[in-house]
This record gives sequence, structure tokens and C-alpha cells, in this order.
Amino acid sequence: MAEPQKRTIKSPLQDLDRFLFAHLPTPLERLDGLRSALLQQGLKDSEVPQLWIKRDDCTGLAGGGNKARKLEFSIGHALARGADWIVTMGGIQSNHARQSAAAARRAGVKCALILQKNVARTEHDYLQTGNRLIDNLFADRIVEIGLDTDRNTIAEQVFEELSAAGHTPYMIPLGASNGIGGLGYVNAAQEILEQCATRQFHPDAIVMASSSGGTQAGLIAGMRIMNASNTRIVGVDVDSNPYELQNAVMDSIRDVYHQLGRRQADENVVEVQLGQGGPGYGLPTVEMCEAIQLMAREEGILLDPVYTGKALAALVSDIRNKTYSDEQHVIFLHTGGTFGLFAYQSLFENIATPIQKVPS
Ligand SMILES: Cc1ncc(COP(=O)(O)O)c(C=O)c1O
Repeated sequence: MAEPQKRTIKSPLQDLDRFLFAHLPTPLERLDGLRSALLQQGLKDSEVPQLWIKRDDCTGLAGGGNKARKLEFSIGHALARGADWIVTMGGIQSNHARQSAAAARRAGVKCALILQKNVARTEHDYLQTGNRLIDNLFADRIVEIGLDTDRNTIAEQVFEELSAAGHTPYMIPLGASNGIGGLGYVNAAQEILEQCATRQFHPDAIVMASSSGGTQAGLIAGMRIMNASNTRIVGVDVDSNPYELQNAVMDSIRDVYHQLGRRQADENVVEVQLGQGGPGYGLPTVEMCEAIQLMAREEGILLDPVYTGKALAALVSDIRNKTYSDEQHVIFLHTGGTFGLFAYQSLFENIATPIQKVPS
């Protein structure tokens, strides 16, 4: 078990621009049902760590998720610069796009979304429902583009058009994964350490889905700044693109340090977990489907097919491979995304739930 290090928890974020709308702190809960299920599958008590879940699916902004924390800082930065439009981008089923558009509404500014068809799925549920449906409610302008079009170029064009029309647009990068967005997870690191201290344990590892890298970067920076670098921050590569992810997380860490006016970490401090991304971003795996069902049945908690399902699959696989002990405390960071379930209807239509049909 990692030794709690001596630390004073003092917020490094005090003087930064921030627009408050997230429901914080999110709960930190035990996952005893999941732990028991793993024991019943043949593991020994000594082989299964104490399992916790950090409920960032409950951040409250338009269905919750990790982007709410980041966007508090991105939108705060935008408002402080007089922005009247937010421009951002993502995939057709982007959780970031949904939450950005909702955050813009909360802040009273308009939002343009550049949405890329970046997954080879042509079904109605993927193209029209889930996050994409909700974008219709929040966004002021939606530009859909194909896989071969460069989303940054189109976003720049929209930005220029708005500027030319006399507006003050503000660009939020993919996933809000720059140093400004990453500040949201510096804040989360502090919140987690405080919650763990109240429950009298120190987290040995935090396991989470990582994609554009800002969530992991913010947590790594936050833990280091708060002298808790002995907590492993395990980013599960959900896109099967580990080198790009590793670099993206390192870049965001540098930028987070820069935003905080601190000297950056030079050494490679990023832990990326391979093997659960399957064929790539947004493409299902058997292990992800199993993990979603396990969490639903053992804990009554929803995960999603693109991020959190693959992240839990990685944690379960590590536990089954006996890489932890019962003396360790492991937190699964639930980063949200559950609207994504509706975009992958065919995966869960025929799972073996007994259905009783009563003739009318
Ligand atoms: C539900 C969910 N989990 C995890 C992530 C990964 O976060 P990041 O892009 O900061 O790596 C995302 C990003 O889009 C997400 O939507």
C-alpha cells in the first residue's frame, strides 16, 4: 500500500479564470459489488484491491462527464476575454461537443460545433441519436464533416467568419485538452486526495479512459503538485494510438504547469495502458461489452462503449492478471459518456436478460 505522503492541500487554482457550473465535489463510492463478483469468479481475497469509483459522470452539466470540470476553466478564460461565441470540435458522438455547447448556454454565449464522422458507422443510432441528438438542443451552428477533412482547418474557417462578422469567438481545442482545460483535473486531484483522507486511505492508483489526454494530464500534474506522485495515474488508451496519446498527455502536462506558473516536469511521467482499445476509437470490443454489463449488474452504474467501458475492461483484466493486492486502494475514474450507449444500440439489444412478454 502506498504510504500517505506529508502534504498540505492548498489550492493552486485560486486566481485563475473559472466559470462555476459543475456539481462538485462528485461522490467517491466503494465498488463492493464489483469486488465480490471478481471474488466469485475465482480470485482470492488477497488478489483483489479495494475498489472505489469517482463519479465524474455526476458533474451535472447536460448529463455529466469529465468535460464539465475542464470547461469551467475554458469557459472562464473565454468570458474573461469577452467571447460571445465558442467554437470547438469532436466526433459525431463527442461528449466534449455536447458538454461544450451546454456550457456555452449556461454562460449565455453561442456555440459552433465541428463534428467529424470519425468512426465507420452509418447506422441511424450512431449518426442521429445519443450525443448527436442532444447537440441539436444546445448548439447554434453544427458543421458535419467527413473523415478526410481536417477539422482544425474547418474550425479556423468558422472562427474567421465569426470574427469577420464582428463577433469575438473563442476556440476550445479537441477535448478541451490544453493546459487551461487540464486545470479542471488539477482541481479533481485535490478533491480526490481530500475525499481519500476523510476515508483514511491513500489511493495507490487511479484508472481512467484517456484519449485527447487532458484529463490524465491534469490529474498527473495535480497529484505531483500536491506531493502525491506515488499515486499511479493509469490512462487507458481507448483509441489504440498509444504514442500519440503519450505525447498529447506530456504536452498538456507542460501546458498545465505553464498555466500555473510552475516549472514543468521534464521526465516522462505518463503511464499509458495498452491492449483494450481494440480496432480503434469508437470501435467495440467483447471485453468492453462485458465490462459495461458487469458494472450495470453488480453496481447499477452505467458506463459507455467508447471510453469508460474500455477503461473498466483494462482494470478488470489487470485484476484478473493479479497485478494488485487487497492492501491497495484503486479508484476507477468514471468520466461519463453514457449517452453513447444509445449510439450503439445493436450491442445491447440482444443480451441475455429474461424478458416476459404478456399478451394484451
Ligand atoms: C466519457 C469520456 N471519458 C474519457 C474521455 C477522455 O478524456 P481526455 O480526452 O481528456 O483524454 C473522454 C473524452 O472525450 C470522454 O468523453
